[in-house]
This record gives sequence, structure tokens and C-alpha cells, in this order.
Amino acid sequence: MSKQYESSKPQNEPSDAECKACNDTGFLIEKAEQEQYNGEIIIKDLGRPCHCMKQKSLKNRFKNALIPEEFKDARFDNYKTESDVQQTLLHATQEYLKEFPSIIKDKPEHNSLGFLAVFGESRIRSLSGEAKYKAKQDHNNFGLGKTHLQMAAAKWILNRIRVRDEIAPGQYSKFDRGARVLCVSDITFMDDLTNARMAGDGGETLSKLLESAIAADVLVWDDLGKAKWSESKEGLYYQIINERYLHKRPILFSSNEDAGTLSDKIGYAASSRLLGMCGDRLYRVEGDDYRLRKERF
Ligand SMILES: Nc1ncnc2c1ncn2[C@@H]1O[C@H](COP(=O)(O)OP(=O)(O)O)[C@@H](O)[C@H]1O
Ligand SMILES: [Mg+2]
Ligand SMILES: [Zn+2]
Repeated sequence: MSKQYESSKPQNEPSDAECKACNDTGFLIEKAEQEQYNGEIIIKDLGRPCHCMKQKSLKNRFKNALIPEEFKDARFDNYKTESDVQQTLLHATQEYLKEFPSIIKDKPEHNSLGFLAVFGESRIRSLSGEAKYKAKQDHNNFGLGKTHLQMAAAKWILNRIRVRDEIAPGQYSKFDRGARVLCVSDITFMDDLTNARMAGDGGETLSKLLESAIAADVLVWDDLGKAKWSESKEGLYYQIINERYLHKRPILFSSNEDAGTLSDKIGYAASSRLLGMCGDRLYRVEGDDYRLRKERF
């Protein structure tokens, strides 16, 4: 494992500790001598940004990323690689992150990472009796650690990746800023969008929610296609994915569907763009559920 993925510290959220240097104001006040036009020297209070501002921004970006509580401790160094599928998933994530600085900077067409099932959940559900039982046994896609790794990746990105905004075509800001990440879970997120649509506020809540998913530098979409299909959801999937596709903004997603059934759940237009954004970084995975393995030993 390469060194940078080994250390556990940078993958964790920064602590809440208050800054003694500036009492959490973000500014350091210093006494400075200032010469007046008449030659008189006076002592003035001058403020300058405290070194803790970077830490505060990191803390904020962690908060806004909405990493689920149960994955707060999900890191690369506590991801076990005993099976082939675990190795595939870890390797895929790390290879992706190696390229990530240039993905953010150069905005290539292939900029996303996807974990799919070999035999989708809704394909299994459509079977019955013995065939369904057998497909479930042979094609498990749960508990492989897909979400674990994508949350570890989200933290890695929050801690390490800095972005320069394009202020005019081809012209970039002099200052960089930390990457903004948003993690959403399909059922909750689609519910939130659906409720926002009915909020009766002229679409304000809905467009805020949509904008957060469209504008984030990195969108982590967990359990994509798990929500029950509806025509209006299909429109929402398309809107978000198409906008990110056009702006070449990466999506890290995991799904219990396969390439075919995913398209049934989120619509062909959205899924073909999304799969296209992954290029070679699309992994069809199945294997034993980590939680069940643990119980056996
Ligand atoms: N290889 C692994 N090493 C350590 N913990 C794991 C591993 N795989 C899964 N887990 C843990 O098992 C639980 C289920 O994993 P999860 O990432 O939700 O799987 P998936 O998203 O593939 O269904 C999580 O708590 C996760 O942290
Ligand atoms: Mg998951
Ligand atoms: Zn400070």
C-alpha cells in the first residue's frame, strides 16, 4: 500500500479544539508602530488572518460533505483485503485517487468512479422461487465495502485536494481553495428532492438542493438507483448527472444494480452519461458480505 493511503490521521475529521492564538476569531491582533504624516509614532492594532483559518475551512467542508455518522471511521488503513473483490475495490479506489489531482485540474472526459453489481438487485427481485434464491446466493453485492471505500475517498479528497476556480474562460483564480465534497444516499436524497418539489415555495428549496449536488466539486452517490422509480425521479437523475457531465465534475457512485437495471431505475439518458464518465473505471463486483464473514470467525 502506498504511504499516503496508510496514515490514518489525514483521513480523519479535524478536531473541534479551539484556537488559543486567536480565541477562535480567525484573526490575530498585533500591536504595530505606525508613523503619522507629522512624524508622530502611534501604536495601532493590526489584524491578520490566523493560521487556524485553513483548519476551520477544512472543518466546515467536512461538515458540509455530510459523511454519514456510521462511516466516520471508514478509512483505507482499516479496510481489510482478504478476498479478491476487496482487493479489486481498494485498488480501484487508490488508482483513481492517484489520478485525482489531474482529474480536478485538467477535467478529462473520464473523471468518475463507479461500483456496480454483476447481477442487479431488481433483476434478482424479478425472479421467483429457486432461481431467486440461487441468484441471491451467487450474486451478493451487499457488504463488500463499496460505501466504506467511497467515504474514505471523500475524506482523502477533503483533506488533500485544492481547487482553482475558473473566473473567465481559460483564466483561473490566483487563490486555491479546498475541494467541496457532497455525499448523498439515494433513497434519502431522492425523498428530499421529491418533498422539496412539493414544498410550495416556488421551487426555491428544490433548486437549492439540486444546485448543491450539481455544483459540488465531487459528488459521492451511495446506493444509486435504490429509490423506487418514478418519471419525475428519472428527470431529477438526468438533470444532476447531465449537468455534472457537461461540466466534467466527477461522481463517485456505488449501486446494487447492474448496468442494465441501473438504466431501468435512473433512465437510459442519465445512466449512459454516467457510465461514460467512468470510462474504464467502472467495476462490476460481487462477493461475500463482510458483516456475515465476521460472524463466522
Ligand atoms: N473489507 C472491509 N474491511 C473493513 N470493514 C469493512 C470491509 N468491508 C465492509 N466493511 C464494513 O462493513 C460494513 C458494510 O460495508 P459497506 O461499505 O456498507 O458495504 P457496501 O456498500 O458494499 O454494501 C461497513 O460498516 C463497513 O465499514
Ligand atoms: Mg453501500
Ligand atoms: Zn486561530
